[in-house]
Amino acid sequence: MAKQVLVTGGTQGVGRETVMMLAEKGYEVHLTYRKSAEQAQELVRQYEGRVFAHRLDQGDLAQVEQADFLVEHPWYGVIFNAGLGSATVKSYAPQGDCLDAANDVALMTVNALGPLWIYKKMKPMLEQKTEKTKLIFLSSVDGGVAAFPHFTLSDGMSKAAVAFLAKQLAAENVYTPIDVFCVSPGSMETGMFYASTLQYMTPEVREQFARHQAKNRLIQPRDVAYWLCELLKDESTLLHGANIDASMGLGCRTGIQTEFQPGEA
Ligand SMILES: NC(=O)c1ccc[n+]([C@@H]2O[C@H](COP(=O)([O-])OP(=O)(O)OC[C@H]3O[C@@H](n4cnc5c(N)ncnc54)[C@H](OP(=O)(O)O)[C@@H]3O)[C@@H](O)[C@H]2O)c1
Repeated sequence: MAKQVLVTGGTQGVGRETVMMLAEKGYEVHLTYRKSAEQAQELVRQYEGRVFAHRLDQGDLAQVEQADFLVEHPWYGVIFNAGLGSATVKSYAPQGDCLDAANDVALMTVNALGPLWIYKKMKPMLEQKTEKTKLIFLSSVDGGVAAFPHFTLSDGMSKAAVAFLAKQLAAENVYTPIDVFCVSPGSMETGMFYASTLQYMTPEVREQFARHQAKNRLIQPRDVAYWLCELLKDESTLLHGANIDASMGLGCRTGIQTEFQPGEA
């Protein structure tokens, strides 16, 4: 029987790339989505019998409580990927309050509480398993590894909380077959980063910006998807508890992001 893996937020960006890579590797992949029903169905059609889609707004506690598919499969792996960014949150939360507090609530709820609630729903089932389970949490270089001045505070706070959750669960599972990892990517060329940053750049500035990034390019979703697939391998147990900086060096040299000025060489 194919190993079953759940990828939250599997319709766009890293999640979509991961779903496709896993399906091609022979896993049975289940994805969640909130609004991209069409993209979800397209993946289900493309990988008939290998990819299954479930609508779940992970920022809505009642929906998570009622999402029985979360406990109906003895997951081999769960990739906690779904999240909102500082711009994509604007189409999720009501806009206009003077502190932008609705955005803060949405970022903290979807990004941090969502994975927590999904984990809590699955916990009794996961703890009964005797076979290996791999839990992989997507944090971010901002919040998970470093602090970038002037980035959206609650975005970084929510991703710091995700990294903490992974660390806490790793501590609790040192003597169990459950392996826990956190991956903290840098800026990736996905809809999330387009919405917050890339859409405001001319093609020339965008090219210059990409060249200024660590290793002279933006991270692609497939770069991260590759390592998420590697972490599902048996050998990854050695990395249990690791928070993997997947930023090509941005986490070590944060100025790359904050000191970019268009026109620089
Ligand atoms: N892009 C970056 O530069 C970057 C950098 C560091 C870390 N990350 C992290 O990497 C992960 C993936 O980011 P990405 O850039 O691939 O994002 P993305 O392209 O915006 O895709 C986000 C995915 O999450 C789903 N999602 C959003 N809100 C949801 C909700 N309330 N309930 C369920 N699903 C929801 C979306 O589904 P729908 O389309 O159905 O809404 C979509 O499939 C996120 O955790 C993000 O924080 C991203």
